[in-house]
Amino acid sequence: MKLIIATIKPFKLEEVREAMTSIGVRGMMVTEIKGFGSQSGHTEIYRGAEYAVNFVPKVKLELVVSADMADQVVETITKTAQTGKIGDGKIFVLDVQQAIRVRTGETDADAI
Ligand SMILES: Nc1ncnc2c1ncn2[C@@H]1O[C@H](COP(=O)(O)OP(=O)(O)O)[C@@H](O)[C@H]1O
Ligand SMILES: [Mg+2]
Repeated sequence: MKLIIATIKPFKLEEVREAMTSIGVRGMMVTEIKGFGSQSGHTEIYRGAEYAVNFVPKVKLELVVSADMADQVVETITKTAQTGKIGDGKIFVLDVQQAIRVRTGETDADAI
């Protein structure tokens, strides 16, 4: 299993969620965050205005998926969240040791 952590522009959330369900992703976590990348937030445009502060609002997605789906998830997020403008976000992929569905006690592939 892989944990995919992605930061995206907030207005892309609905489109990315739809793309995820269309490729068979069954769950994700969504958090509103602030962050900065290589421009340190200084020159980024958000809702039409240049953001003159260090932290820019983003949405963080966390998805645990089977290892064989990870590439497709990454490609789909990249394609869907891309505007070509600065601040489109970043994706990190980590290994996951274990997953448990609390309701049933199912584990790993059965739990995601
Ligand atoms: N190295 C990093 N580690 C953790 N989060 C990061 C990193 N780089 C970027 N982010 C997150 O991704 C968001 C978008 O980054 P972005 O501006 O698109 O990256 P860059 O300017 O480096 O191309 C940031 O607001 C931050 O939340
Ligand atoms: Mg940036």
